[in-house]
Amino acid sequence: MFESVFICVHLWQTLPWLNMSASHLRVLISSAEIQARVQTLAAQIESDYPDGPIYLISILKGSFIFMADLVRALKRHTIRVEFMGISSYGSEKTTSGQVKVTRDLDAAIEGHHVLIVEDIIDSGVTLSYLTRVLHQRRPKSLAIATLLDKPDRRIQQVEVKYIGFQIPDEFVVGYGLDFAEDYRNLPDICVIEDTPTPSLGHTPHQ
Ligand code: IMP
Ligand code: MG
Repeated sequence: MFESVFICVHLWQTLPWLNMSASHLRVLISSAEIQARVQTLAAQIESDYPDGPIYLISILKGSFIFMADLVRALKRHTIRVEFMGISSYGSEKTTSGQVKVTRDLDAAIEGHHVLIVEDIIDSGVTLSYLTRVLHQRRPKSLAIATLLDKPDRRIQQVEVKYIGFQIPDEFVVGYGLDFAEDYRNLPDICVIEDTPTPSLGHTPHQ
């Protein structure tokens, strides 16, 4: 008797959340696929650069998980970790076209190999602005590694040396990417099928 009451209460509490989760999020790239691709990218980077320091610049906030996995997959011990805040999106899904630096580097990059680590390239507006800014600081080399690329959405062309996955024109979340600051902690890259209203609370993570 006690057991069946417990099971009913448990199902009553769990099912609505499972249904909500299933209707909102569709896995596009699984955590296992991401991990495998990050290892491959790291091996390419490792062999492309001569021995010595590489300054990896993580573009906050979306690339922080990609950055953490990428640096741990690199073998050399002379990786320099830097962070830069750039904002081009508000809480919406379309770019405003306005880019601003919200947090600058701690280090001078002049004369060093620099690799920008980005979560996703969409219109290309953010990265074409950022590469112009960083070129003015005279690095020895400047290249871009992005986890995701949406080529169909490009407005401004950018040269990208390392691409994790090319994806269709869909808004994705997870593995660091957000929608109005939600979903960053999903282990997979997911498509939001039916946009929830963030102010109504969190959709449970898968
Ligand atoms: P871009 O300037 O249009 O290339 O936009 C780049 C930035 O927009 C990325 O660094 C992300 O922060 C954000 N962004 C673009 N597409 C998505 C998406 O599908 N999900 C989450 N963020 C996105
Ligand atoms: Mg970003």
